Amino acid sequence: MNIMLKPVYIVGAGPGDPDLITVKGRNLLIKADVIVYANSLIPDSMLQFCRADAEIIPTASKSLEEILEIMIDRVRSHKLVVRLHDGDPSLYGAIQEQIVALTEAEIPFEIIPGVSAFQLAAARLQTELTVPELVQTIILTRISGRTQVPEREELSSLAAHQASLCLYLSAHHVENAQAKLMEHYPSDTTVAICYRLGQEDEKILIVPLSDMASITQKENLTRTTLFVISAALNKVNKNIRERSQLYSSHYKRLFR
Ligand SMILES: C[S@@+](CC[C@H](N)C(=O)[O-])C[C@H]1O[C@@H](n2cnc3c(N)ncnc32)[C@H](O)[C@@H]1O
Repeated sequence: MNIMLKPVYIVGAGPGDPDLITVKGRNLLIKADVIVYANSLIPDSMLQFCRADAEIIPTASKSLEEILEIMIDRVRSHKLVVRLHDGDPSLYGAIQEQIVALTEAEIPFEIIPGVSAFQLAAARLQTELTVPELVQTIILTRISGRTQVPEREELSSLAAHQASLCLYLSAHHVENAQAKLMEHYPSDTTVAICYRLGQEDEKILIVPLSDMASITQKENLTRTTLFVISAALNKVNKNIRERSQLYSSHYKRLFR
């Protein structure tokens, strides 16, 4: 490893609200010479902290090889490079390929964690996902799509635990997901359909599990949607409902 080179900073930007990046992440954005970011997932408002003369490189239309070539080139030119990822980089961030390639190229890197979507969901829902004597486990998972989930992690087998389950990357397969969840969760289990949390058009719909797919499709919430399925939401639901009617525009309730 060449210790004369600056590391690439792989920074978790959080779910989209610019105030939800860590102080360390924000300080790096302020100093960075180069910011490489997934513009399809990270709102431009995150870039408000960057220097006016920083080189800002959106990556939506770039291949992994192109992105790596840019990062390696800039680090070798002794630039401070931030690779900005949405949420927390350790969750569905596809950073593994970058780690392997940077290591092979002897480029140092450091990972700065971020707030994941499930954490902002719990905050918005004003709930604990590990309520004593009710549920003590959180499962973060997804359904198979273009990326296959290993068979031993099949959604129906995870559902058997009836843990607080946070379902990423699954809105396009929501009917299939609902069917697998209903093999084990009661059909009236509360589901929070969380769309574009932390962004201007954020929407949270609270529905029974039996309506999860139909409402997701009817409302067309197929991009950047996280589902939280949990008995913990059953518990707090009434309180949220009362409070939200008074103070909050974040919630839309569809419980009958
Ligand atoms: C490629 S994954 C990245 C997850 C991210 N690293 C994280 O920690 O939240 C993208 C998926 O995360 C979820 N997601 C990410 N940001 C979100 C947000 N602001 N609101 C709702 N869901 C979000 C959705 O399920 C989306 O399909």
